[in-house]
Amino acid sequence: MDQRHEAGATSSVYGAVRLGYALVDSARLADWKRFAVDGIGMAADEQSETVVALRTDDHARRLIVRKSADEDVAALGWEIASEPALGLILARLKGRNIAVEEIKGEEAALRGVRRLWRFLGPKRLTLELFTEPVMARSGQAAVGGFVTGAGGMGHVAIMTRKPDQMIDFWRSIFDARISDFVEQRISGLSFKFTFLRLNPRHHSIAVGATRGIAIDPIPTKVQHIEMQAATLDQVTEAYRRCHSLGFKIGMAMGQHSNDRSVSFYAVSPSGFYFELGWNPITIEDATEWPQITHPAISFWGHKPEDQTLADRISLLRAGVASLFRSEYTLL
Ligand SMILES: [Fe+2]
Repeated sequence: MDQRHEAGATSSVYGAVRLGYALVDSARLADWKRFAVDGIGMAADEQSETVVALRTDDHARRLIVRKSADEDVAALGWEIASEPALGLILARLKGRNIAVEEIKGEEAALRGVRRLWRFLGPKRLTLELFTEPVMARSGQAAVGGFVTGAGGMGHVAIMTRKPDQMIDFWRSIFDARISDFVEQRISGLSFKFTFLRLNPRHHSIAVGATRGIAIDPIPTKVQHIEMQAATLDQVTEAYRRCHSLGFKIGMAMGQHSNDRSVSFYAVSPSGFYFELGWNPITIEDATEWPQITHPAISFWGHKPEDQTLADRISLLRAGVASLFRSEYTLL
């Protein structure tokens, strides 16, 4: 048992943190709306010249796409369930001299929250903490079909060249627990994935790294964002819709070995993958959870579908380029 969790609930924020929203920078707002609404099945909260905001449940905003010259995830918003948990996280950040900015007004409203704090996380990915989400307006149609609740809106996967520091960051600031690992060779490289949970969702963060030479072939800060559908039909129908709308399928339908979810990965308009999954296991922490190392990330499927030779060459280029730049770490 981790020493940090033995002293009781007030010394740990485990269970009090969940992924609340993702803010994306993109020049392709119309494509994003078509992808998210017509492809995946989200509902639009706002559409303007500068913003497309999307709902998946009773929160006003879960995915916010902001007009920009960049194509990347701009920030991940973490919902903090209690004031003591918020205080503990802010104190830990302060204790490590990590500058935290309190944000109000338009920037908070853009994200659909009332109280917001921001800091620069590992890999220069902006991380945000929030409480008091704005709920959907009365009169807006209910959105069904996505599983959120105490486990949050989904999970993210991040590639890193500094996996030890990345994992230590999530463990020491957010009391993340390791659910399990996958070690697998992909395209001639040996990868290790570490799956971290912040609450009963099997993982809120997956950390991917090569073994041996540390390379990062993913040009965006996040490799994929996942959301969870309530039924298998929603996943297969979203797969068919994305395909027929002309969005590339990064990896076809398949089943993960560790959380046992059935999912597919579409290539989002910003280039990172978007995974829609169904029926992952959850982990209740009454008992110790064995940290198994799985030999493959999938039991079946998840085969590359619309990847061209050019796609593979650009990944290789990005991987090689990563050798020549340093990766920002906090700890
Ligand atoms: Fe995933």
